[in-house]
Parts: sequence; C-alpha cells; structure tokens
Amino acid sequence: MAFAVLFLLFLSVPFSSAKLNPDYYSATCPDFAKIVRDQVFTKQSVVPATAAGVLRLFFHDCITDGCDASIFISSNAYTPHAERDADLNLSLSGDAFDLVIKIKNLLELTCPGVVSCSDIIAQATRDLIKMVGGPYFPVRLGRKDSLNSDASKVPASLPTPTMTMDDIINKFAARKFTVREMVALTGAHTIGFTHCKEFANRIFNFSPTSQVDPTLHPKFAEGLRHVCWNYTKDPSMSAFNDPRSPSKFDNAYFGNVLKGLGLLRSDYLLGADPRTRPIVEEYAKNEQAFFRIQFFFLLLARPTIVVNSILFLGIQYTHI
Ligand code: HEM
Ligand SMILES: *[C@@H]1O[C@H](CO)[C@@H](O)[C@H](O)[C@H]1NC(C)=O
Ligand SMILES: *[C@@H]1O[C@H](CO)[C@@H](O)[C@H](O)[C@H]1NC(C)=O
Repeated sequence: MAFAVLFLLFLSVPFSSAKLNPDYYSATCPDFAKIVRDQVFTKQSVVPATAAGVLRLFFHDCITDGCDASIFISSNAYTPHAERDADLNLSLSGDAFDLVIKIKNLLELTCPGVVSCSDIIAQATRDLIKMVGGPYFPVRLGRKDSLNSDASKVPASLPTPTMTMDDIINKFAARKFTVREMVALTGAHTIGFTHCKEFANRIFNFSPTSQVDPTLHPKFAEGLRHVCWNYTKDPSMSAFNDPRSPSKFDNAYFGNVLKGLGLLRSDYLLGADPRTRPIVEEYAKNEQAFFRIQFFFLLLARPTIVVNSILFLGIQYTHI
C-alpha cells in the first residue's frame, strides 16, 4: 500500500509544472541557449517581422491547449484537423514557423531527441522580445510536446477583436490568467501588424450616421482609411499595431489605447472597461510595471506533459 502511494507520487511529479526550470537542458543539451539565440539573431536581423510573428504563434499555441507545441503538428492521418489549419487561416506568420523548425533541426543534430518544440518556441520568444527592446526574463524549461492538435478547439479558445470584455476575460480565465495578466499579455500589440479586415468595420461604413468609429482618434481613422482603401481587393493590406513605435517592444500600446489609437475594437475596450482601464493607465505611465509582470505568465501556462514522440519521429516537419 505504502509502496503504491509512493509510486503514484513519483509518477505524478514530472506531470507538474513545478518541475520546469531554466537549467533543464544544462547537462543534456548545453548548447541549447546558444543555438536558439544565434538563430533568433540571424532571422530577426533579416526579417524584422519575426519577433511579432513568433510571439503571436506562441500565444496561439498556449491559449489553445497549454504551451505544448501542438500548433506545429500538421494535419495527417492521425490528426486530420490540426490547430495549424485553423491558425493558418488566421494568418500566422510563415517566418515564425520557419524559425522554430530551423532551430529544431539544428538541435536534433546536436542533441537528438532531447529538446521539445514547446521549449524552443518559449525560449525563442523570450530572446526575440529582448532583441526588440522588451524585458529579459528567465524561461523555465522542461515542457513536453503534445501528440494532439485539434483545429476545432481553436475558435473556442482564441479571443477575437469583436468579443465583449466579458468573453475576453473568460477566454484568459480558462487558461488561469487574471484580468491583470490578460492586460499585460495583450501589451504584445506593441509590435507587429494587423490585416485591414480585422478592423475594417471601424473605418468604413461604421454606422448610418458615421463612416468611422467615433472612439477612434479622427486623424488615426483617416490614416487607416488611407492605408486600407483597397483591402477588399488586396487582403494583404495591413497596419501597424502600435503606430507610435511599431517595431519596439515598449509600453506605447497602453498610451495608444487611452488616446483612441488602439487598432482593434478589443484594444479600445481594454481602455474603456472599468475592470481593465486602471491597469492600462498604470502600464501607460510606468513601463517597468508592465515589464515586471513580464511574460512569465504566458510562459508558465500549463504545459501538456506527454512524450515527444510525434515531434521526435519528425513526422510533422515532413508535412510542414
Ligand atoms: C484581447 C485579446 C486579443 C485579441 C482579440 C487579439 C487579436 C489579434 C488580431 C486580430 C491580430 C491581427 C492578425 C492579423 O491580421 O494577421 C493580432 C495580432 C497580434 N497579436 Fe493579438 N490578440 C489578442 C491578444 C494577444 C496576446 C495576449 C498576444 C501575445 C502575448 C498577442 C500577440 C499578437 C501579436 C504579436 C500580433 C502581431 C502579429 C504579427 O505582426 O505577425 N495578441 N492579434
Ligand atoms: C481554412 O480556410 C479554407 C479556405 O477558406 C477552408 O476550406 C478551411 O475549412 C478553413 N479551415 C479551418 C480550420 O477553418
Ligand atoms: C487593388 O488591389 C488589387 C489586388 O492586388 C490590384 O490588382 C489593383 O490594381 C489595386 N487597385 C489599384 C487602383 O491599385
């Protein structure tokens, strides 16, 4: 009996996120940090959109079923409707996928079968945030990759720009994020860009009485109408998320939101809802407060602990 209990305890330890730690690979893959850092540096120098692309990819992976790299599984005989399919439709960046696959291949040559894709994307996101001006924070490692990926779960997990604040809060609460953490995480919209269709209803034919959403700063709305004028014919047209410092990871997003310079309806709501406005104001005034909450919370999102078989068998990259 005592033996059985001990055995169960032993089994349950690796399943707990408390086991994650920054030195997880120091013995089994000592070059892990260097390989990720070098690849991140090279890619970001050549393609400056990489940082935002990887950060968003990481977010989508984590919010769907924990940070388990399930987003990298391509549809195949065993997983006919992988998350990736839903996400590709939501225009995740191909450069972000490329970077993670490149690092994975290099690590498989250096220390085969050791490093999970979920740890690669976590570490790469941290390095990229730092490279574009954001905070540095230790990444706790030791996640395992999931074998499952289900596109049908994506719409239910992902927040969308037209949701109410109740819905947005609930989506994050489902992953154990508080309102404050949700606000900090959404500060990721300080980099990257958004396709016009995501906010077109705010700048064209908004209402019978107004072409544009009156909660938008009028000059900003005018600029966006200019940028997006042909978006129905050219769906690649897009605007910077943070018009003030589009490529720098800073707290400008929060100031924008309070001034009618938030691009998405959901960005506007963050500055308008009484539950989130005080937090937005705090981060707009104090960048360190925003940086301190860091991206720990995302990185700590529940990892799904399963052995790395599909990823290590390499099945999914032959399909990517
Ligand atoms: C209220 C919740 C959120 C909503 C409704 C939302 C929605 C969106 C939408 C619609 C886009 C534009 C996609 C495109 O046109 O290609 C976008 C971009 C982006 N989102 Fe969010 N998002 C939310 C929260 C987050 C969070 C928590 C993160 C990360 C921690 C994040 C990171 C990003 C990044 C980095 C981009 C730019 C991507 C790029 O330039 O490639 N978002 N978001
Ligand atoms: C993605 O878009 C394509 C083409 O519009 C569609 O056929 C497919 O069903 C979509 N996939 C998902 C998971 O929504
Ligand atoms: C609008 O976009 C379409 C698709 O890219 C392009 O063919 C067309 O020439 C554009 N219109 C003008 C006037 O540039």
